[in-house]
Amino acid sequence: MTTKVTVNPRRAIGPLGKRVYGGFVEHLGRCIYGGLYEPGSALSDERGFRTDVLDLLRDLRVPVLRWPGGNFVSNYHWADGIGPVQERPSRPELAWGGAEPNTFGTDEFIAYCRALGAEPYICLNMGTGTLEEALNWVEYCNVPGGTTWSERRREGGHPEPYGVEWWGLGNEMYGDWQTGSMSAEEYIAEATRWARALRALSPGARFVACGESGWSEWDLKVAPALASLVELYSVHIYTGSEDYWSNLLAPHMAERAIGILKGVLSQAAYAQGLSRPPRIAYDEWNVWFRTNGGGLEERYAFQDALAVGTYLNIFVRNCDWVEMANLAQMVNAIAPIVTTPTAAVRQPIYHPLLLHVQGHEGTAVDCFVDGPTVEAPEELRTRWPHRVRDLGPFGLLDCASTVSSDGSHMALTVVNRSSSQERVVLDAIGGIEGPVEVTTLTAGGRTELADVEGVVTTRSSERTVEGRLELDLPASSFSLLRAPLAG
Ligand code: AHR
Repeated sequence: MTTKVTVNPRRAIGPLGKRVYGGFVEHLGRCIYGGLYEPGSALSDERGFRTDVLDLLRDLRVPVLRWPGGNFVSNYHWADGIGPVQERPSRPELAWGGAEPNTFGTDEFIAYCRALGAEPYICLNMGTGTLEEALNWVEYCNVPGGTTWSERRREGGHPEPYGVEWWGLGNEMYGDWQTGSMSAEEYIAEATRWARALRALSPGARFVACGESGWSEWDLKVAPALASLVELYSVHIYTGSEDYWSNLLAPHMAERAIGILKGVLSQAAYAQGLSRPPRIAYDEWNVWFRTNGGGLEERYAFQDALAVGTYLNIFVRNCDWVEMANLAQMVNAIAPIVTTPTAAVRQPIYHPLLLHVQGHEGTAVDCFVDGPTVEAPEELRTRWPHRVRDLGPFGLLDCASTVSSDGSHMALTVVNRSSSQERVVLDAIGGIEGPVEVTTLTAGGRTELADVEGVVTTRSSERTVEGRLELDLPASSFSLLRAPLAG
């Protein structure tokens, strides 16, 4: 079957902020310890950073890294994690069990972000933590010197302030699994106090409020109440299923959440006379359904890579509202990178992220996809009846497009969800001029394939005829097409 994709470089959605390709690392299982941080390993540098992991993350050009949790943060006392490593206390870990050794703390995190070239994004403990502790943490990071905590940083060998801009006001505070969870009313009162006090200390700080799914009662109360105090409103989404179609189509629930939040945040901004509504941070998202213990060491199949490619397309298509998104997580725990004592390997979900980062920049633009569609399967409708009921039909091909900053090229990412080869006719208003570079990920049709290195990447250069490209995309594949635009 044929799908016609028409990219309109003049219909801009908005600038594609690179923060949609952000990451998240938590003190959970082997994400930090034995993942990105392993002092004593032959693969680690003098700071204890696994260089093989760092290299793979650098390839992903992670622009912003959220830390230290997740559920973990709601009983994390940051001051335990500074000072001489051998003097740091070990504490009970309430979210995932075991003990937290505190050998990786704020200084190590900042050093890691710098090594990676990522902005730090610190989530505050609103569970067992106090406002005073949070103020101390911001002081430690952002005050140049001359105060108790800024001097502690300087004494530790870090004379310059860290300048941490992004601060999360708690993690999933609505959930009973969260240490110190709250009602929406309690959270609004607490987060209001925190945001005001923290901003007084660090006026340049940018705050992220703790939202839920985007469509819950919590969101309808919390988003308007905090709209004037925060830059971003956070939501989380995890989906996944053994059922191929459910797995691939569930990410569209994120589009539902974005749509609802656009309305809620716009209404709040209008009613409160704000110059700009807060934007959305999808600061945890991923495919996750196989594991619930054991450090969440999910082994991903190729169909999960297609779902991840769909999520990323959704964030690009909605980048006027989604300012930040953080893949949860980056190493070992539900992650694209898995470590062994001797290597760091890439799971299938690594690859669509890599192609997105390599392909998209500049401005997200409209693309019209005209072709066969598919309805949400019964499994998905039964599982999430109220969320999925009226979603769909969905294109057999899912697409997102951008035009480079200099206007010379367009990029298109395409998930072909069909179990057969699909013909695509690619066109751009104004025309395509010259050959199109095509990079395609497949697993030979074996969508259940979970072999960590089993994804095949093929590259070709395709000729256009009269400014159009006709191409067959393999069954169950993810592709990046880069094309020069006619002047
Ligand atoms: O990423 C794993 C967990 O999922 C996080 O700790 C929590 O925020 C979410 O529920």
